[in-house]
Amino acid sequence: MEIERVQLQMHGDHGGMLIALEQDINVPFVIRRVYYIFATERDVHRGKHAHRHLRQLAVAVRGSVTILLDDGSGPVRVVLDDPSQGLLLGDMVWRELYDFSDDCVLMVLADHLYDPADYITDYDTFLREVKGVTYPTELVAC
Ligand code: TYD
Repeated sequence: MEIERVQLQMHGDHGGMLIALEQDINVPFVIRRVYYIFATERDVHRGKHAHRHLRQLAVAVRGSVTILLDDGSGPVRVVLDDPSQGLLLGDMVWRELYDFSDDCVLMVLADHLYDPADYITDYDTFLREVKGVTYPTELVAC
């Protein structure tokens, strides 16, 4: 699982909709953290990083956001604008979030606690690591 869109089952009863997110049922990882992004300023770009070891499920529970994703094979653009659509992200996926609607609330479930050391914030470093490029010691020594 690197990048996958998932349809979440809706329970439409009592005149409204309900979606349940359950570990190992429709969330394929241990849920250790939930955070949400809201009140995002117009024209802001967030993200611009990858994680070495983090699985996440993102849901725009309100409004919409565009997410540019890159697992090293080139950028893919995904629009989240439906609370019944989830986006699963695995390790080593570069992401940039932009075009937030004023009312956007983006909820994210994650399988690890917040760890700044897990972030890769430089795109070239990300590309080197995701492509497994290593430099021979004799070249580094030169
Ligand atoms: P950051 O991950 O940089 O957000 P984005 O990628 O959307 O731009 O986090 C923004 C701030 O929030 C930063 O100060 C770290 C803090 N933060 C936490 O304290 N806990 C968390 O779980 C996350 C995701 C961020």
